[in-house]
Amino acid sequence: MASLPRTLPASWYCSSPLYQLERRAVFMKAWYLLGPVTRFHVVGEKVDYEIAQVKLTVIRNSEKARDVKVYDTSTGLEQKSYLSITGLLFATISDEAPEFHEYFPDLEVVIDNVDFTKLPYRHGIKYEGRFNWKTMVDGYQECLHCQYTHPSFATLYPTTFYTVYNHKNFSQHVADPNNYKVDDGLFLYFFPNCTLSVYGGGLHSFRVCPSEDPGVTRMEFDYYHSQSGEKFNEYLKFTRQVSMEDYELCEIAQQNLEKGIYAEGILNPVKESGVAFYQQRVLELVCEQHAKDTERREHKPSTTSESDNHVVTSALVDPASS
Ligand SMILES: [Fe+2]
Repeated sequence: MASLPRTLPASWYCSSPLYQLERRAVFMKAWYLLGPVTRFHVVGEKVDYEIAQVKLTVIRNSEKARDVKVYDTSTGLEQKSYLSITGLLFATISDEAPEFHEYFPDLEVVIDNVDFTKLPYRHGIKYEGRFNWKTMVDGYQECLHCQYTHPSFATLYPTTFYTVYNHKNFSQHVADPNNYKVDDGLFLYFFPNCTLSVYGGGLHSFRVCPSEDPGVTRMEFDYYHSQSGEKFNEYLKFTRQVSMEDYELCEIAQQNLEKGIYAEGILNPVKESGVAFYQQRVLELVCEQHAKDTERREHKPSTTSESDNHVVTSALVDPASS
């Protein structure tokens, strides 16, 4: 039993100081998927993001589809970004992040098999949920719950052979490795909080954006599809159904974490390898940061406060109405 991976303790899902530590240890040092380049199809339009209390603005500056820049909204300074050959835009929220290829050394082998410049952006939704950001990522990173929580999804993508392949800072989920089609069934998780799913003729990605309250998270979804009208509506209805099923599960799971019903446990090393992979990364980075902070405090008194930014709460909708 000693060799089985263990979960993070429940207290890590409920603690504000722990979130501030995660913010410095994990979020400030990460890369984020902002979307396919088609998200920025209008020249001059500002597309806003907020990740871990840092606001970003993306602007396409000319008719050239790849002429897209990312700025720190507060300072107006350009932020480090990377646009893949096939059209996915990634960015950082701080200079503390490493270079893109250092963070994702083997990602492009996977994303370069799909042309992300073709599917138009159709719809975006944001709403808050009463759960920690990790509660949602825990659910995304395993599919043990899929059979009973997502019956419609499990019918299309039977979970019998569901496999998660973990790479440096991302995971690839494959519903059936024996019958894998890259443009119908590509599911990626980017550490710490972004996802990309290509299936059913469309594409959607979501960001799990932590607020300063460890029990509240803002979910942001972007939907892309080759067709508008009825076809897109069918796709949206299907994928929203899956998202709402996860949302309800997360709110209940968070209640259990907060009430102390669950404290800590073990993970299935095969079926929950994706959860173990990302939680281990959080644990390592947080412990590293904590050791650094402790050492710094012992040598000189800290004078800086962590953040002056606040969570964007505008443009939030009721998740059930979208
Ligand atoms: Fe799920």
